Amino acid sequence: SDPGLVARATAAKAALGDRVFVLGHHYQRDEVIQFADVTGDSFKLAQQAAARPDAEFIVFCGVHFMAESADILTTPAQKVVLPDLAAGCSMADMAVLGQVETAWERFADLGIAAPTRGGKPQNKSLGNEVIPVTYMNSSADIKGFVGRNKGVVCTSSNAKRALTWSFEQGSKVFFLPDQHLGRNTAVLEMGFDLDDCVLYDPHKPGGGLTDEQLRNARMILWRGHCSVHGRFTLDSVREVRERVPGVNVLVHPECRHEVVRAADYVGSTEYIIKALEAAPSGSAWAVGTELNLVRRLALAHPDKQIMFLDRTVCYCSTMNRIDLPHLVWALEELVAGRVPNQITVDEDTAHHARVALDQMLALP
Ligand code: 13P
Ligand code: SF4
Repeated sequence: SDPGLVARATAAKAALGDRVFVLGHHYQRDEVIQFADVTGDSFKLAQQAAARPDAEFIVFCGVHFMAESADILTTPAQKVVLPDLAAGCSMADMAVLGQVETAWERFADLGIAAPTRGGKPQNKSLGNEVIPVTYMNSSADIKGFVGRNKGVVCTSSNAKRALTWSFEQGSKVFFLPDQHLGRNTAVLEMGFDLDDCVLYDPHKPGGGLTDEQLRNARMILWRGHCSVHGRFTLDSVREVRERVPGVNVLVHPECRHEVVRAADYVGSTEYIIKALEAAPSGSAWAVGTELNLVRRLALAHPDKQIMFLDRTVCYCSTMNRIDLPHLVWALEELVAGRVPNQITVDEDTAHHARVALDQMLALP
């Protein structure tokens, strides 16, 4: 990375001292991650966001939904900064609050969910048959909806625990917005049948599902996916197995079901990092997740053959929006006494989203 920018980032961070806490997701560029006080997957970063209540500014090197969660989990006095506001997440954008409320109304008409008006439950004592569960990769609005309706947030490292808890509360789960994480967890980790899962398409009338399909389903999956992990195919797995005999295929649960089924290991970003740390010297690994992370792991473990599970390059383009020039700009603005790109969640949404996030953090 540009030595001039490295020097400026170093100087700005030093000038801010303990007033700033920089969080970096594992998918961030190397030039950015070198300035992170803590690196982690989305679960670890959600926990860490709350770990430094003394820090005036949280600079979040990640994407918009993560910065929103940090704002929700930190004190009102703390300010969360996203160095580039264009760092969104295409998966999170696939679930919009109005669409989710329309789906819920449909469930309420069928008698499987407690009716709501303006997103608020009408009868708090009425239990839901459907428990809403949202992946961390969703907007604060969606997390607020889930909190209002007695559901829980999950990440890829605790999805099974979140689903287990949810099936103790009700007989169905409405899983947002990543169909793959929902399906992979239910089928591969909890022993559900593929037929127990139905796909709710927000762009089709009634979600494209009949009343009977909804009544019979155990998992109602939102039609969302990650554009990065969705690119790995069964052919990528077959191709690497032919090319590298004995290779271990390790993928993130945001990958398609058939890819995860064909892989040897599946797990969240933190799981992938630990699995490769523990792998024996000389072993070969094809890793199906974001490329910045895979490259960093390959460099960190030169004694192991670590490769990307696809021939084509696939970064998360929005994660990559946060680059060193944006980080330098954000830090220097803070030094100058201005707060750039502050991410704030309104108090009502934040309150309910916090309920769903706290429920996640309290999962057994
Ligand atoms: P985790 O950080 O939970 O592994 O999620 C991966 C991801 O896609 C983050 O955007
Ligand atoms: Fe969103 Fe996928 Fe990028 Fe994660 S990797 S931020 S889920 S698009």
